Amino acid sequence: MNMYHLVSQTLAYQVEGDLVEVCCNTGQSAVLIAKVMREFASTRELQLYDSFAGLPLTKAEDGMVYKEGESRRLRRHRAQQLSAARPEGSDNT
Ligand SMILES: C[S@@+](CC[C@H](N)C(=O)[O-])C[C@H]1O[C@@H](n2cnc3c(N)ncnc32)[C@H](O)[C@@H]1O
Repeated sequence: MNMYHLVSQTLAYQVEGDLVEVCCNTGQSAVLIAKVMREFASTRELQLYDSFAGLPLTKAEDGMVYKEGESRRLRRHRAQQLSAARPEGSDNT
């Protein structure tokens, strides 16, 4: 089971409603969802949400995979990468 499978089956079996991703972060999985929607010529809405505060405090049952605030650091790091890769003079602020 993966994201492609989940979205394609939702569309193939015509489950009613729009698609919502909670915790979209930088949108990597959102791009995949959008591509599958396009593949199915879906006219549904894709709604994306995130607190942009990173991951909350974890509990023991969450395991040791993620740490509090982790994705916030990833987002900042990715923003710095994108900023550094921008051609000189292309600042659109
Ligand atoms: C692992 S990242 C998601 C990665 C994303 N799906 C992608 O493909 O790039 C987890 C995200 O969940 C968000 N998040 C965590 N708890 C949340 C909450 N209660 N409400 C909204 N967003 C939350 C964090 O800010 C973070 O951006």
